[in-house]
Amino acid sequence: MKISQKAAALSPSLTLALTARAKAMKADGIDVVSFGAGEPDFDTPEFIKEAAIEDLHKGLTKYTAARGTPDLLAAVCETLKRDYAMEYEPSQIVVSAGGKHSLFNIFYVLVDDGDEVVIPAPYWLSYPEQVKAAGGECKFVDCGPDQGFKITPEQLRSAITPRTVAFVLNSPSNPTGAVYTKDELLALGAVLKEFPKVTIISDDLYYKLVYAPAEFHSLPALMPELRDRTIIVNGLSKAYSMTGWRIGWSAGPKAVMTAISNLQSHSTSNITSFVQRAASIALRSDHAFLTGWRETYDRRRNLLVDGLNALPGVTCAPPPLGAFYAFPDVSGTYGRNIQGIEVTDSMTFAQAALEKALVSVVPGVAFGEDRCVRLSYATSEEAISKGLGRLAELLKS
Ligand SMILES: Cc1ncc(COP(=O)(O)O)c(C=O)c1O
Repeated sequence: MKISQKAAALSPSLTLALTARAKAMKADGIDVVSFGAGEPDFDTPEFIKEAAIEDLHKGLTKYTAARGTPDLLAAVCETLKRDYAMEYEPSQIVVSAGGKHSLFNIFYVLVDDGDEVVIPAPYWLSYPEQVKAAGGECKFVDCGPDQGFKITPEQLRSAITPRTVAFVLNSPSNPTGAVYTKDELLALGAVLKEFPKVTIISDDLYYKLVYAPAEFHSLPALMPELRDRTIIVNGLSKAYSMTGWRIGWSAGPKAVMTAISNLQSHSTSNITSFVQRAASIALRSDHAFLTGWRETYDRRRNLLVDGLNALPGVTCAPPPLGAFYAFPDVSGTYGRNIQGIEVTDSMTFAQAALEKALVSVVPGVAFGEDRCVRLSYATSEEAISKGLGRLAELLKS
């Protein structure tokens, strides 16, 4: 059967085989410590779940407007006002099936065949595949640990060509946990002002998970002159521990949001009807639950970062300041034979960790940085200590 060139060009997940192996080992009763989670380990707060259960019982089980109910769109506008100090109208919002779906829609409506999208590396691994699916080409910019995993204004300027249609900014970042400061954003914004045809895609999925002294800042909030070409992507997956609910939203200029709404109306249409009021209740809540979560993540983060820095050949610097990932440079172990495994890159490091220490980490090559591996601290302190102990034993051997 014929498969389109666009679909055939998509890469299978590099990490799939390793993740599948870790899962199979766990299923066989092997005590694997997993640092692989890309989602919070807390339960969705009860008051949010109750709202969805109520609506299901009430029979709110039919189609809604494709872009979301008026109530949910209003709740997103209120969120933008409260957290970004920006005014948006419901006609500028589309609610989609997760931030991933929002991003897919955005690339689809922005990118024509051959257009370029500037993506700082390390990057969240779906960006390149989504750009390719839309017919575009990725212009990766290497932003290694030596520069705090952040793109510099000079790098951004030299990456933009006449074919560039968009620039992806993800702060706090998955996989690095890097958070751009206000001044860094202003400096990037100054470059972007020189290139009026470039749309800024600001992926803010982790904006509520930021640790002192870092603070979340939004480029279009800092530079109103960039608002008419910025699309904000956010959602409930990470901040509210609602990854399985599939609720994301995007906000931007009316014309592009209308195009996204049109696209979505012919693909998935509305997100599940009976989660929409629950989502608006979550967005309008006092977010009291987040204080405890953030403190817990912060403790785990310190535990993990200190433990990683104590491992031979491993450096976790600068420390992550947001999200729930550490992205240490493990290249100091490359060239070693660790218990029979030649460690030469992030894949073989992850393989040695899994096979020889029963610790599952995600190879950095999946995120465009082969010197590093990703460890999620959305897991208990007990598991973090146990995993670190095992890695210490492994790397001593
Ligand atoms: C940086 C980033 N953007 C977007 C997403 C998509 O989130 P969602 O689960 O809402 O689709 C993720 C999920 O891992 C992410 O890490």
